[in-house]
Amino acid sequence: MKLFLDTANTAQVAEIAAWGVLDGVTTNPSLVAKEGKDFKATILEMCRHVPCVSAQVTATDAEGMKKQGQEYAAWHKNVVVKVPMTTEGLKALTFFKSKGIKTNTTLIFSVAQAMLAAKAGATIISPFIGRLDDMGEDGMTLIAEIMEVWNKYDFETEVLVASTRHPRHIVDAAMLGAHISTIPYDLFKKLPQHGLTDTGIKKFQEDWAKVAK
Ligand code: E4P
Repeated sequence: MKLFLDTANTAQVAEIAAWGVLDGVTTNPSLVAKEGKDFKATILEMCRHVPCVSAQVTATDAEGMKKQGQEYAAWHKNVVVKVPMTTEGLKALTFFKSKGIKTNTTLIFSVAQAMLAAKAGATIISPFIGRLDDMGEDGMTLIAEIMEVWNKYDFETEVLVASTRHPRHIVDAAMLGAHISTIPYDLFKKLPQHGLTDTGIKKFQEDWAKVAK
C-alpha cells in the first residue's frame, strides 16, 4: 500500500520523505490556507520530494476546473489534479483523462460516487472515512464495499483512503487491499512508535553498557 502525507506543510513533507517511505502528498484548499504560503511554490517544493502531489481545483464549473487543472498539470509532471465529486467534476475528469492528465477525485462518500468517478477516468478516488465516522457512520465499511466492487471489475482507478484519524484506520485500509492511505502529519509520526520497541532498545543499551569496554 502506498502511503501519502495529508498536508500543505513542505517541512513536514521533507521530514517524512527522508524516512524513505513516502509515496505522495495530498493537499486541499483548507490545508493550503492554514499554511498561508504561495500555492504553486508549495506544490513545486513538494514535487521535489515525492512522485505524486495532489493540487485541488477551486472552480465549481467544468470549464473552470479544466482551466485550473491544465495550469496545475503544466507546473510539474508529479502534479495530480484534485477534482471534487460533482457532475461538473465528472465532466472535467473525462476531459483530463483524454489529455493524459492524472486526477484524484475528492469528497467521495458513497460506492455510487466511487464508481462514477472511476468510469469518468479518475486516476485515484478519495473516500473520506473520518468524516463519515464523525457523523456516526462507519467509514471503513465504505472502503470494504468499494474494494468488493473493485475486486469484481477491472477498474484501473486506485482507491485512496482519506480523512484518516488513527493508526487502526491505516491497518484496516491495508487489510482491505486499498491502494493508498493519506495520513495527517501527527498520525504519520505515531506509526513507527511502539512502547515495547522503546523498552527493548533501552534494555539492549543497558546490557551492552555492562560489558562494553
Ligand atoms: C484528502 O485528500 C483530504 O485532504 C483529507 O484526507 C481530509 O481529511 P479531514 O477530514 O481530516 O479534513
